[in-house]
Amino acid sequence: MLRRPRRNRKSEAVRNLIEETNLSVKDLIFPMFLVEGGNQKIEVASMPGIYRYTTDLMLKEIEACMKLGITAVDVFPAYPESKKDKIASESYNPETFYLKALREIKRNFPELCLMSDVAMDPYSSDGHDGLVENGKILNDETLEILAKMSLAQADAGVDILGPSDMMDGRVGYIREALDQNGFTETSIMSYTAKYASAFYGPFRDALDSAPKFGDKKTYQMNPANSQEALIEADLDMEEGADFLMVKPALSYLDIIKLLSDNYPLPIAAYNVSGEYSMIKASAERGWLDGERAMLEMLTSIKRSGAKIILTYFAKEFAQLKS
Ligand code: PBG
Repeated sequence: MLRRPRRNRKSEAVRNLIEETNLSVKDLIFPMFLVEGGNQKIEVASMPGIYRYTTDLMLKEIEACMKLGITAVDVFPAYPESKKDKIASESYNPETFYLKALREIKRNFPELCLMSDVAMDPYSSDGHDGLVENGKILNDETLEILAKMSLAQADAGVDILGPSDMMDGRVGYIREALDQNGFTETSIMSYTAKYASAFYGPFRDALDSAPKFGDKKTYQMNPANSQEALIEADLDMEEGADFLMVKPALSYLDIIKLLSDNYPLPIAAYNVSGEYSMIKASAERGWLDGERAMLEMLTSIKRSGAKIILTYFAKEFAQLKS
């Protein structure tokens, strides 16, 4: 045998030399959940180790994360039913706790990369990402609401807006609204290929944001398809997105690869709540080594072409590396 691939695996030092994929804390964005109020930190039942924080405690948590080397966070708000309505009006109410918190976070940590979510679901009494009329999700009418929400978030100091709603044309619509209002520096990370996935379950618990009727299949993509991801990516690129995102990550590594091979924009992958919780749950039962499974999962997402990973494991990974 002239070729013995095992020679390149013979020691830790040799293995390190040939290692192709290196994961860094700097690649990660930490998604965090915010609730109204003070001095409260409530664990999400289906996401061990992940909490909903009131603004004061979130500021402390962000500070701790930054000490560990985390440079980017994505903040999602959890609203009570009483604040929700058909048109998600709370999302652009300048006095709402989410916008106030974003402002506070940016004021306290100007160097932090602050990302926010653009979609109606946390504020919608229908629990859908778009405006509902007679059981249908209206596309073009939703764009106006998304633009108002985006301007409010940009004004609060957000660095990257994350439209996660999957309405057609929203990236261009939001980009234009931002530019017309002087927010030319605000970036858009489009949820380009967002699939109608069962892996969002724990997130919807965290925000109490499950749809009140039906499912999200008329706007989120069919897990059986990959060609549509190319159409979505073409549109987002034309419409001015700064980053393309694939979501979820683990069951969609081929889509991450497809987009990273075909588009010059940086590709992000969202390692979603269900992907986090399934590792946590089996680790709690002693069925697998949670730490190794986390590292393997994150590495595989990066190997497949994601430059950026949004992951609930961000803090744990940072702790491990520090
Ligand atoms: C809402 C939104 C969802 C997630 C991010 N933004 C849920 C959904 O589309 O139902 C999921 C994140 C996760 O599961 O970690 N537009």
